[in-house]
Amino acid sequence: MKHKIKILVTGSAGFIGMHTALYLSEQDYELTGLDSINDYYDKSLKYARLAETGIDCDTIRYGQILKSSKLPSYQFVQLDLTDKEGMNKLFEKEKFDIGRPDISFIFTKAILKGEPLKIFNYGEMMRDFTYIDDIVVGISNSLKTIPAGNPCWKNDSATSSAPFRIYNIGASNPVKLMDFITTLESALGMNAIKEMLPMQPGDVISTYADVSLTQLDLNYKPQVSLKEGLEIFVKWYLNYYQGGTH
Ligand SMILES: NC(=O)c1ccc[n+]([C@@H]2O[C@H](COP(=O)([O-])OP(=O)(O)OC[C@H]3O[C@@H](n4cnc5c(N)ncnc54)[C@H](O)[C@@H]3O)[C@@H](O)[C@H]2O)c1
Repeated sequence: MKHKIKILVTGSAGFIGMHTALYLSEQDYELTGLDSINDYYDKSLKYARLAETGIDCDTIRYGQILKSSKLPSYQFVQLDLTDKEGMNKLFEKEKFDIGRPDISFIFTKAILKGEPLKIFNYGEMMRDFTYIDDIVVGISNSLKTIPAGNPCWKNDSATSSAPFRIYNIGASNPVKLMDFITTLESALGMNAIKEMLPMQPGDVISTYADVSLTQLDLNYKPQVSLKEGLEIFVKWYLNYYQGGTH
């Protein structure tokens, strides 16, 4: 059975949370809405929103998960985000998806299941792989550097007359797709079955992040190599999916 991505929508009795839950429920996700239903404003509005998502408000009990009567992949729990014990229990029970299921996820799953990897353009592709910690450091560095407004701003997209700056964060080290696969194979200790296919329409041969401004302004230098990153990822994946059999 296909594993649906599990998402937690916080503040789901609120204005944005409810609309987000309704929008996501039409897509291929398993959703859990969470809200403390605080009395910052009239609670009846929140109950009306919960009813909109198919939650029977008379049956709400703090900490208990309720299924929606309207949306097949939606459930709701009244819980306060600051309630550590309650949140821990919810996370233990639900196992929300944490990583982003991109190429590393897809290929790892296929290799573990002995299914072929679809390799487009016969592997003649290059991609930039950035380990999450390097992204976090980039974001954190950007918080410490407040940009000045650009009074001469005309139309470049990276600056503004307002004090802000857009930074690209990434490894900036394009890796050959086949090298990525070999590194993943050795992290898993398994060989992949490779299905070599032609280029897909609309795809591009090579992508990578231009981090020149990020390096200059934020002293940004990614630290984690592809090999290290994939080894950590594989360890996490095997532990999270208990051997990868999802
Ligand atoms: N509404 C807007 O136009 C708008 C625009 C930009 C940003 N925002 C921001 O987005 C956020 C959500 O906006 P909204 O309009 O949906 O607000 P909202 O007040 O309608 O919804 C927030 C919900 O979060 C719940 N909540 C608060 N603390 C909680 C906690 N500790 N645990 C669990 N649930 C908790 C509340 O009960 C409430 O239902 C706010 O931070 C708001 O400032 C809103």
